[in-house]
Amino acid sequence: MADSPPVPGIVGAGQLARMTYQAGISLGLTVRLLAGSPDESAARIARDVVVGAPTSAPDLAAFVAGCDVLTFDHELVDAGHLAALERAGHCLRPGADTVALAQNKRRQRVELSEHGFPVPPFRVPADLATIERFAAEHGWPVVLKAVQGGYDGRGVWVVNDAATAAALVRDLPGGAGNLLVEAWVPIEREVAALVARRPGGQTASYPVVETVQVDGICHEVLAPAPIEPGLTAEAQRLGLAIAEAIGVTGILAVELFVAGGRLLVNELATRPHNSGHYSIEGCVTSQFENHLRAVLDWPLGDPSLVVPAVATVNVLGRSTFDPRVFLPQALEVPGVHVHLYDKPARAGRKLGHVTATGHDPAEARARARRAADLLAAEGGA
Ligand SMILES: Nc1ncnc2c1ncn2[C@@H]1O[C@H](COP(=O)(O)OP(=O)(O)OP(=O)(O)O)[C@@H](O)[C@H]1O
Ligand SMILES: [Mg+2]
Repeated sequence: MADSPPVPGIVGAGQLARMTYQAGISLGLTVRLLAGSPDESAARIARDVVVGAPTSAPDLAAFVAGCDVLTFDHELVDAGHLAALERAGHCLRPGADTVALAQNKRRQRVELSEHGFPVPPFRVPADLATIERFAAEHGWPVVLKAVQGGYDGRGVWVVNDAATAAALVRDLPGGAGNLLVEAWVPIEREVAALVARRPGGQTASYPVVETVQVDGICHEVLAPAPIEPGLTAEAQRLGLAIAEAIGVTGILAVELFVAGGRLLVNELATRPHNSGHYSIEGCVTSQFENHLRAVLDWPLGDPSLVVPAVATVNVLGRSTFDPRVFLPQALEVPGVHVHLYDKPARAGRKLGHVTATGHDPAEARARARRAADLLAAEGGA
């Protein structure tokens, strides 16, 4: 037994790092953070914070020197620098190549389809003409996606005609070479499969959830997903098979579309994910604790639900209004768990979430919504 516990280091200090840090507290761990600024959500509460850029080789090297294992709360890192750290003998979980895959939507489509996983029809466009040919085959609209750097719907464009596609290709740095084109899928529901995986291959598979997206932003997460048992089993099978195929360590979130009664893989995240926040109160072991346990190569905890129904509703900024103004009112809603990330408010920004557990899915969802609406409502709901 080592004299002191291992030190996990997280690149990034947003709300995911903040909630992972919180899980580390119960395990007696001090989680080290590389923050872009001391004002970031997790940097405001953590004890061991290094301020530096996740894209700078010297900053990463200085940070990792004080960590036993390096993990991530976002993908906006330089994959080449990560590979160099790995070659120098540092322990990265997930590994540099897995992070490189997670940050590149084009690589995800190509490699997942090569493995035989179901993905929407797509093409890697060399130029505008490829996009037009793809649209001629599959019909407008098509979906154009920035290969790297998108989140919360930024970097995803549903394009109805050739003129709009041309304008986008013209205005985007790197043009068509930085885009992926895919068929617009008539989505019936979006669901997510979450898996924790240890280096040796032990896995824990979370219940499949529904993610309710509006304009590319996740608004609500409902567990368990109200889909047929056959689809749930298939989503879990896909989650586990993809985790194995890409050799992930830590949490893997697989975002899936349900369309025409089938599942299609949308994208992967190799870190704790918004679709798993419900697990803090809803499961025996939260995604954040299991992420730490997985990257430290410790036994994974039980991911099962502890109640029949869980709903999480995100607190999305509508302006610069601070959600804490109506916190006392939100806390009047019975049985809700409020999580606020202490981030400056901005329209469309995820500022927190509310989780409600219960016996009835609609009732739990209504309570979580009521509290989240109060928090986000400028001037009262
Ligand atoms: N091919 C498609 N057809 C129809 N809708 C799509 C398609 N691709 C994406 N969408 C919609 O856009 C949303 C955002 O897409 P995607 O998950 O690729 O982008 P993102 O901005 O990187 O998201 P995240 O915040 O999850 O990282 C999806 O959740 C879905 O609602
Ligand atoms: Mg997504």
